[in-house]
Amino acid sequence: MRRLSRAPSAHQGGASTTPKQAARWSTNMIEAGAPDALQGHNAPVSAQEPRDDAAAAQHLVEETYENYRRYVNPPLARVMKMSGSPVEVRAQGCTIWDARGKAYLDFAGGYGVFTLGHRHPRVIAAVRAQLDEMALSGKTMFNPLLGRVAKRLAELAPGDLQYSFWCNSGTEAVEGAIKLARAATGRATFVATQDAYHGKTLGALTISGRQSFQERFRPLLADVVHLPYGRSDGLEAALEGAAAFIVEPVQGEGGVNVPPLGYLQAARQACDRTGALLIADEVQTGLGRCGYRFACDRDGVVPDVMTLAKGLSGGVVPVGAFIARPHAWNAAYAKAPLLHTSTFGGNQLACAAALAAMEVLEDEGLIENARLRGAQLLDGCRQIATEFPEVIAEARGLGLLVGVELTSEGYGGWIIPEMLKAGVTAAWTLNQQRVIRLEPPLIVDAAQIEVALAALRAGVSTARQNLGRLL
Ligand SMILES: Cc1ncc(COP(=O)(O)O)c(C=O)c1O
Repeated sequence: MRRLSRAPSAHQGGASTTPKQAARWSTNMIEAGAPDALQGHNAPVSAQEPRDDAAAAQHLVEETYENYRRYVNPPLARVMKMSGSPVEVRAQGCTIWDARGKAYLDFAGGYGVFTLGHRHPRVIAAVRAQLDEMALSGKTMFNPLLGRVAKRLAELAPGDLQYSFWCNSGTEAVEGAIKLARAATGRATFVATQDAYHGKTLGALTISGRQSFQERFRPLLADVVHLPYGRSDGLEAALEGAAAFIVEPVQGEGGVNVPPLGYLQAARQACDRTGALLIADEVQTGLGRCGYRFACDRDGVVPDVMTLAKGLSGGVVPVGAFIARPHAWNAAYAKAPLLHTSTFGGNQLACAAALAAMEVLEDEGLIENARLRGAQLLDGCRQIATEFPEVIAEARGLGLLVGVELTSEGYGGWIIPEMLKAGVTAAWTLNQQRVIRLEPPLIVDAAQIEVALAALRAGVSTARQNLGRLL
């Protein structure tokens, strides 16, 4: 059997990997047949031998659509197909290549996962090295990497945030944080914010702020109050007797909403006065995304519990975590070490990825780059908003989490596919479909930002021409 040809290894997307090379690589995989270990059910592509590159790509596209339609999620498959979603086969740095070898600048960024870009070489190297030693934890022995990654997170986190629990996703981190709040305070209720997004497991769903995601799953947790985001009046009264106030320092899925400075400070004070815990959900905003190491640093606030995921993965292995201050942790778990556990959580591969991710973030100056490139991106979006006021209501954001609010949801269905055609990915925010979110890797450079802005401008312009005024 012929062997799998090696993928090109440029770090910054496209720097030394041309789309042609990527196409060759993906179709080589198909033509050569995958290596033994990838055959059968694990094979990345169909076993059928296609005749040429274009036919191979077409075959893969059709196979993937069909598998989604038959075995994954038929309505999702239809929507993705209608909006022209390609089939992704390879990624490096800021770039994803599709099955036909076309390159896309990834400004959807896995909804914030790829802070370091795709397949950052230092994360890949750390995970590869760990894979040769031990992949998952046997659970009955001490795991040195878990100790190390927890120590590093405590060093980087603000104030006396110290004890961390490691899991595999954002929603699990949130679930753990709200359980800790109940156990620590002996109180049941939560205060959250309208339009918030905290995940889709039952607890996280309850404190999230979108009714349509909740209705089919009622009854949810009882007694959750949702207050308007960014306003602290009424917060203290709502927090009387509550276990915690959970809040995103910048709302991501709610439409990229940046609260006024002082909002988290006011929340901190309200929590201190009422004995409720302050939980900062930094799953999307943490680790440099907003131009701060943690977005709550913008307000100089130390929460009692902070949740993380997305960027913590280094874009390579799924990781989630929450970290708590000793007073909160001890009140919940000092006498009950097994009250909250996860079989896969804190596994060696995940810890190696997270350690490398935190190292790269600091060593490569990515937080500063998020600020600089974020300002460039936001300025550019605001300029486009002034050129097309009938399409764009507002552009806003912090660091490299930028939202473009459209005057009508209808424009988005045109603009995002147009950007895709131009080779740039973008996405809606989950709770506000009128807002297009741009959150590229923090390694993005000035030229790539300009390419994305040009694609956005062209998409907005053709949407305006083809749809006219929607209001
Ligand atoms: C702030 C916030 N919390 C929690 C989550 C849920 O994370 P996951 O999708 O990994 O479960 C998200 C996902 O977008 C998020 O943005």
